[in-house]
Amino acid sequence: MNELHHWHPVLLSKFLKQKPVGIQLCGQEIALFRTKNGEIGAIEDSCPHRRMRLSNGWVEGNKLVCPYHGWNYEIDGTGHSCSTPNLRPCAKSFDVVEKYGLIWVKATGSQAQFPNIDFPDYHLVCALEHHVHVPLELLVDTNSEIEHAALGHTFFGHALSQVSEVEVKFDFSDPEVTRLAEKMPQKPLPGILEKLFSVNGSDRFFDKIEIRFSPVYKTSQLYWENEQTGQRRKEQLRSVYFFTPVNERETKWISLYYITAPRWGIFLFNLLQKPILTAIMNHEGNREKHVLEALADKRVELDGMCLGRLDQAIVENRQRIQRIYRGHKQGVAKAMAIS
Ligand code: FES
Repeated sequence: MNELHHWHPVLLSKFLKQKPVGIQLCGQEIALFRTKNGEIGAIEDSCPHRRMRLSNGWVEGNKLVCPYHGWNYEIDGTGHSCSTPNLRPCAKSFDVVEKYGLIWVKATGSQAQFPNIDFPDYHLVCALEHHVHVPLELLVDTNSEIEHAALGHTFFGHALSQVSEVEVKFDFSDPEVTRLAEKMPQKPLPGILEKLFSVNGSDRFFDKIEIRFSPVYKTSQLYWENEQTGQRRKEQLRSVYFFTPVNERETKWISLYYITAPRWGIFLFNLLQKPILTAIMNHEGNREKHVLEALADKRVELDGMCLGRLDQAIVENRQRIQRIYRGHKQGVAKAMAIS
């Protein structure tokens, strides 16, 4: 199985309306379009006639029309030539599904399993997209360690002065999943956030993480405990991060955030908590993007890196990315010993 055989979320549904959208997935250019009866097509973004970009075209009925000479294509790629009706042009098509507010694509005919991200006790807060100019591995790296939270996060995680108190339990016993259980003192928070989410700046912050590799994605369960009583705060969050390669140098980071039953009911949740949480998550995503894009060296090789005690999952994840996601038999070279 190679990268394109996995189900990848490639676009938030709200961004695909009447106008076709061109995306790139693992270097493959794809035109997405929504037909008049609501079906979605995903076909190679190059007209078989003379290679015009099909995403520059438009939808007529249930067909995507090429803007160069007007040939048109159905969602399975079957084409029709206006000038030469006996021709049977065919554009390469991809399997496509719309679910969880996202549009998902994979190579036609692959048997990849669809990710299950149903959280029945949670409410969706927001779905976000960040386009990060680093390879997939480097985006997964930063999401596999909590040490960057001190400087890379404004709100979530520990202060730099408390990094020695961060505890992480790693579980690499499952060859398909890496698991991390992180616990740390929460850094001070603005008073309004403490009130809105019933969290205190002196709480213990917990992040239970699972990373899977078909496609590459991370689920987190986030919650806080009162340091004195050990009681868990009522509001808990879940996040799901999908790491979708645009090409070898860029990655689309698609994130979904959920919260447990809102304290003040749905009306105030929609009015207050939802927009504030959305703004916070978008801010944190942008901040991490800028940090990552400032890396001096964006090669994915681990050789020569000097990894610390909180970096253990990075090596495990790289091996699983190679084996499960990329379908390579070889492992990856190890970095300098983790101390
Ligand atoms: S290039 Fe598309 S119709 Fe000619």
